[in-house]
Order: sequence, then structure tokens, then C-alpha cells
Amino acid sequence: MTDFTATKAAFHLPEGMIYLDGNSLGPLPRAAVARIERTMRAEWGEMLITGWNKAGWMDLPARLGDRIARLIGAAPGTVAMGDTLSIKVYQALASALEMRPDRRVILSDSGNFPTDLYMAEGLIRTLDRGHELRTPAPEAVADHITDQVAVVLLTEVDYRTGRKHDMAAITAAAHDAGALVIWDLAHSAGALPVDVAGCGADFAVGCTYKYLNGGPGAPAFIHVAPDHIDRVRPALSGWLGHEAPFAFDLDYRPGAGVERMRVGTPPILQLAALDAALDVWDGVDMADLRARSIALCDRFIAGVEAACPDLRLASPRDGAARGSQVSFRFEHGYAAMQALIARGVIGDFRAPDIMRFGITPLYIGTAEIDAAVAIIGDVMENRLWDRAEYQTRARVT
Ligand SMILES: Cc1ncc(COP(=O)(O)O)c(C=O)c1O
Repeated sequence: MTDFTATKAAFHLPEGMIYLDGNSLGPLPRAAVARIERTMRAEWGEMLITGWNKAGWMDLPARLGDRIARLIGAAPGTVAMGDTLSIKVYQALASALEMRPDRRVILSDSGNFPTDLYMAEGLIRTLDRGHELRTPAPEAVADHITDQVAVVLLTEVDYRTGRKHDMAAITAAAHDAGALVIWDLAHSAGALPVDVAGCGADFAVGCTYKYLNGGPGAPAFIHVAPDHIDRVRPALSGWLGHEAPFAFDLDYRPGAGVERMRVGTPPILQLAALDAALDVWDGVDMADLRARSIALCDRFIAGVEAACPDLRLASPRDGAARGSQVSFRFEHGYAAMQALIARGVIGDFRAPDIMRFGITPLYIGTAEIDAAVAIIGDVMENRLWDRAEYQTRARVT
């Protein structure tokens, strides 16, 4: 059994704040502070350049890749760390398209996170070979898998609604049609059990600053299925993905295995923080996490619906069809979220009208859910959002 009291104690949670935004940026793991300090003082400070060998900095991306692999059901040696998720989407898509040279369609959906679609558009323009991006409604994706499709590029859990695709079923349908599949696990890794190997995903990508609590700007990950690893040709052929970076050859030769998906110098301070953040997961059973997540989400939905008739549930009511977030639609959602933040309930807003709440069992329990519901009820019943100061949108919503 997972000890959720122990996992909560592993985080610094500001006094008086109910943090329901771990689906955007996870809180600070206490151990990360000492770990960063050690990396700065004892490694960077004392070892300087020799830290790349002495402190094992160069091996960190592979070592942490293996730790992430366990959380997404991937084999060791199939996950590389680095860059941002947008870059990893581009890398996966470029490699996958090259593996299906006779096909021209990239199939995504209209609920996908914009950067995935933007990166696909940019790649299509660069390739200039007549590729086409299709974005049907999430519910209709399966009907659009045809023998024209080269790659299916989907985010498992919709960032707005929390609706969850059936990864196994879509992957199987795509493979039956001869297409490859890339899963964006930004809202899945650390949020629910994922089995990339079991469902046969060709590529998976994700970030580590949300449910994995690696900190703002923490590096992304990319998984390549073992059958493909030695065949993929990295489009972003950086020197640290080279077979022998320190040979300084003039020509690129891809490195062994998933190391070839590395690009340039890894962010050591961020990786150190992430390493400390991942320690929390050592004692977590993902089935326990999922059961608690669904129970907390159900409790939150029931409480908010009972207290706030103006809020309309935007997430699936069935826990099995949902990720680890709950969203409500409200015409004045931005202002209402600002009013909640002023009262210490932190969620976020996604245009046009979505109020989004991340439910993260590592550090959120029934007490926080009930307290948040009471504050949301008060803000809505007394129209506390209807003040001039809550109407102006900040740069980050
Ligand atoms: C599903 C999804 N994909 C991609 C991204 C973009 O990631 P990054 O900013 O790390 O490139 C996000 C960011 O929230 C996301 O939610």
C-alpha cells in the first residue's frame, strides 16, 4: 500500500494554499533543495568541468530516462531526457514520417495541445513533401485512421477536459492500418498508470514539470520502441546524439540506441532537481495512485456540482475515461479563477471558458478537496469573481 502521508510530507506546500495545479507545475520536493545545493556547491563549484565525468553529469539523461521508463511501462534503455516537450514532439514526428515515406497524413485531434499541432505544421513546411495534418474531434479519431495515415499523433489526456483516449485501442487500430503512433504523455506520466510497451506505442514523449514535479523548465523525455531504436534517424542530429561525440567527426552518425535522441548539452541543475523529485515515486504503486485520484476527482465533482449550479462539468463523469484533473465550464471562468486564487485555491484557466483543477494524490487528500469545494461554493454563490481586479488577463493564465 502506498503511504500518501509520507508522499505529502515530501513536498513543500505553502501555508494556507490549496494547490490544485500540479497538472501544470508540480510543487517543490523538499529533497530537491539540498540536491540542487549539492550539485551547485560540491559539483559545479568544486569540480567545474571535471563534473561531467566525476559527478556523472553526462550519464544523468540515461539514468533518469530509466527512472521515467518505469513510470510509463517502458523497458530500460528506451527513454532519453532533454530539451522541451515541443522539441521531443518534433523529433518523434520527423523520425516517424521518415519511416512511412509513402504516406502523407498526420492524424491528430482538435483537442490536442497547440504546440503539438504547431510543431507538425512547421515540420510539414520544412519537409515540403505534401504532408497534411488532420484534426477531427477527439471522439472521432478512430474513424479517421485510414491507409493514408503515416502517423497518429495524440495526447492521451486532453489538457482542457481531461478526457482520456484509449491508448491500446487506438494504437492497435493504427497499426492495423499500417500507421505509426506517437503518444504525448504530458498529462499522463505520474498521473495514471501508463503501459507504452504493453500497447505497442512506437514513440512516446512527455514533460516532467507537471505530475513528476521536476520544477519549472524541467527537461522532457522521449521513448522509442525497442524495435525502432536502431532504425530511427534523428532529424535534430545534435552532437550528443552522435555515436562518438568526442571524436568531433565532420559527419553525423547516430549514437547507440535511444542515446541518439539526445541533442545538445543536458540541463544538469534541472536534472538534479528531477532526480530528487523522482525519489518520491519509489514508494508509489500506480494502481493505488489511480484509485485515489479517481475517488478524489469524484468527490470534487460531487461537491462542486452540489454547491455551484452555474458551473458545467467539462470532464468525463466516468473516472475511467478521465485523467487526473477536473474541468468546469463557466462564462466568467477567468475572473472566477482569479477570485479563487485570491482565496488560496490555485487552479488555472484555459480559453475560452475552462476552469481547470489538477487532482494530485501525492499531496492532495479529502481535506484539501473539501476545503476547496467550500471556497469555490462561496466564490460562486456570492459572485466574488465579479470585481474589476479579476477581469484583466495576465500573460500566463
Ligand atoms: C500536451 C502537451 N504537449 C506539449 C506541451 C508543451 O511542452 P513544452 O512547453 O515543454 O515544450 C504541453 C505543455 O503544457 C502539453 O500540455
